[in-house]
Amino acid sequence: MGYGREIYAAAENELRERRRLAEEDADRRRAVFYRSCPRAQQIERTLAGTSVGAARAVLSGKDTAETLKAMKEKNLGLQTELTLLMKEHGIDGTAPHYRCSACRDTGYVDGKMCSCLKDLLRTESYRRLNALTPLSLSTFESFSLQYYSDEPREERPSDRSIMRNTLRYCINYARQFGPDSPNVILTGNTGLGKTHLSLAIANVVIKKGYGVVYSSVGSLITKLENEHFGRDTGTEALDSLQSCDLLILDDLGTEFRNSFSTSAIYGVINSRLLLKKPTIISTNLSTKEMTDYYSERFASRIIGSYDRIAFVGRDIRQQKRSEAAAGKAPKP
Ligand SMILES: Nc1ncnc2c1ncn2[C@@H]1O[C@H](COP(=O)(O)OP(=O)(O)OP(=O)(O)O)[C@@H](O)[C@H]1O
Ligand SMILES: [Mg+2]
Ligand SMILES: [Zn+2]
Repeated sequence: MGYGREIYAAAENELRERRRLAEEDADRRRAVFYRSCPRAQQIERTLAGTSVGAARAVLSGKDTAETLKAMKEKNLGLQTELTLLMKEHGIDGTAPHYRCSACRDTGYVDGKMCSCLKDLLRTESYRRLNALTPLSLSTFESFSLQYYSDEPREERPSDRSIMRNTLRYCINYARQFGPDSPNVILTGNTGLGKTHLSLAIANVVIKKGYGVVYSSVGSLITKLENEHFGRDTGTEALDSLQSCDLLILDDLGTEFRNSFSTSAIYGVINSRLLLKKPTIISTNLSTKEMTDYYSERFASRIIGSYDRIAFVGRDIRQQKRSEAAAGKAPKP
């Protein structure tokens, strides 16, 4: 799954911490056991010593088979005695109790990523996204079509019927999300639900186990500037923007524009196109403005390779504010 590098690092840290806790706990239990049962410590020391003894026997070459057989028998005897002693002292072993017995909290089983590490990555990516924007508020369930007018317009369907299609598109996009999902540009005026629906998509896609990175274009530029001009070492931001399963770039056109920002945005969008990784962009800009602000090349790249989804209606931030002022309950 494509997560940012810092998400892998956080998950690895968590695993390291789990191992440490399990091992410390085992040390503690062992110490208590040995204190009350010195014979057990003696046995464990002998057992630990026998592997060295076995290696010596093999190296010396003398009666190897005989020596090894005798050692094995002695070991079995000691092990039985140890098990009995543990039972007597009410101890269920002195080995670490790892949180995940499959991978012993290493995150990998036979070179493959363990499900516990996958869970950790997903949780971490969710936590980070949530720290930026409360995901729990922006869901498909909390998206109401009542805010969009039902009045039919000349030559075009009502706002509500356009938005019903938009909502349907986004729900299907989230449900069917996969590496081959299309790129989408959500366009329309301020306060019409673009950020709301892109976060609702993120919610569902993260729960499916994909790595999602959400960033406003403004903060993307800041991160890339810091890397580019050496204020941050490494290229973590760029890596995660390029490699995540789904990138959500919010508010294209509101960033402070200069030649660096324009080429940085173009670079990210273009490399994701080349890697065939889906991106969702939201913007207030019309196609004409996009051409004016960036370049013909930039605009045509986006028009040619993105599904364009329209948001129409009256600013819902304002509608909610007037509702609140009038003491009305929010729309169902
Ligand atoms: N259909 C809706 N039902 C309920 N709440 C909505 C709906 N659409 C938007 N909202 C809420 O209205 C506010 C503004 O919506 P949002 O931020 O998604 O707008 P936007 O299109 O991204 O605007 P901008 O272009 O300014 O970024 C948010 O608090 C959002 O949760
Ligand atoms: Mg927005
Ligand atoms: Zn595991």
